[in-house]
Amino acid sequence: MAKKLWAGRFSKEVDEKVNDFNSSISFDARMYRQDIEGSIAHAGMLGETGIIDKEESRKIIEGLKGILSDIESGKLQFDPCAEDIHMFVEAELTERIGDAGKRLHTARSRNDQVALDIRMYLKHEAKEITALVKELVKTLCGIASEHLETVMPGYTHLQRAQPITFAHHLMAYAQMFLRDIGRLSDACGRMDFMPLGSGALASTTYPIDRRMVCEALGFEDITQNSLDGVSDRDFCIELSAALSILMMHLSRLSEEIILWCSWEFKFIELDDAYATGSSIMPQKKNPDIAELVRGKTGRVYGDLITLLTMMKGLPLAYNKDMQEDKEAVFDALDTAKLCVSTFIPMLKTMKVLKENMRNAAARGFINATDCADYLVKKGLAFRDAYKITGRLVAICIDNGLTLETLPLEEYKKLSHAFEGDVYDAIKLEACVNGRNVPGGPAPDAVKMQIDFVMKKLQKEEKENEA
Ligand code: ARG
Repeated sequence: MAKKLWAGRFSKEVDEKVNDFNSSISFDARMYRQDIEGSIAHAGMLGETGIIDKEESRKIIEGLKGILSDIESGKLQFDPCAEDIHMFVEAELTERIGDAGKRLHTARSRNDQVALDIRMYLKHEAKEITALVKELVKTLCGIASEHLETVMPGYTHLQRAQPITFAHHLMAYAQMFLRDIGRLSDACGRMDFMPLGSGALASTTYPIDRRMVCEALGFEDITQNSLDGVSDRDFCIELSAALSILMMHLSRLSEEIILWCSWEFKFIELDDAYATGSSIMPQKKNPDIAELVRGKTGRVYGDLITLLTMMKGLPLAYNKDMQEDKEAVFDALDTAKLCVSTFIPMLKTMKVLKENMRNAAARGFINATDCADYLVKKGLAFRDAYKITGRLVAICIDNGLTLETLPLEEYKKLSHAFEGDVYDAIKLEACVNGRNVPGGPAPDAVKMQIDFVMKKLQKEEKENEA
């Protein structure tokens, strides 16, 4: 077992089981890069401010860079007996460069160190998931552009309600994911504060320069209170909440994909590479990816609840409970990334069965509102028009007809306002094209939505480059 860096006060080695229980290296090792970059900035500042000798600072930085490249090349393996990534790097440094390594932890505690590492790590990961969600939105825009005129039934209560287009339906999801991108970026903004210098809880007596470290590590600003700096985990919770909402949206789309794949709907067909078969039923083609995404949504919610519950009773400042933050927020991130990245090619390769969508739209009287609106345009009050149309629908149901096939005499029996042009007014394409208000399903209106979303993404990309 590696000798503990805090061994001084203790007369015995820690029990092996306790050591395993206490250890976090199995899951915090993934922050090695951030840990080392943070230490490099800290050591640089210690040298610049004269807290340690410049030459020693230089040696520490060289040593840390060597450790980083050896980890990345696979030459250096993590020691599972090390308590955590912070102890591992420090112990390795001292082994490599000797006494100078023992000066790295001057004016620092693992409490502010871990608060720094996790912020840096999550900032980086949030960028990655954001990029994936952007690709997802672009994918939706791409498919929507090809289906501006693909009529399908729009639903409420899962009952056919009014005609829309497949493009319009998909662009609703694009809006949701756009808001998810906004939430991820808000969460990033609030975690962009550099906590180093908070020490264990009460800062330090050394004349440190926190702003120098802040600038070296590319943070927006420094944290303002040392107790808060080490004990805040809001940013883990906020990121997990943003990821939970993202998963909720992805799960709703998954649910629709699952429905659309069923024989009852058959609106789409997934590519063979993104579906699975059954071990017993030879005819089956199952939408497992969408189902797993829907299932994994519960897991991400669980991560959020883990974090909220873990934090709710903690007195200030650091408590070891907070070590539990990592597995939860890492799992939420890993799961969301995996789901979004699998979802994109599944969407890109799915076949849209336009005919089936149109056939479904042609049944279910989804043009009944348009029939009532026709009468309103002829001067009737909407409530009267609504009642007349309701009766027409009942007649159609009794006689196995649709509003399109019901003879004009039958229409006229209920209102003289009906004329031959009613058939044009209730054509599905006319119903869709007529809804040409901003946000509506008419092809021109949806085209505007797509342009808006694509422009917004491009603008953000430009801002990020700058
Ligand atoms: N592995 C610990 C964590 O993740 C690092 C901080 C340890 N601090 C302490 N006072 N024991 O929270």
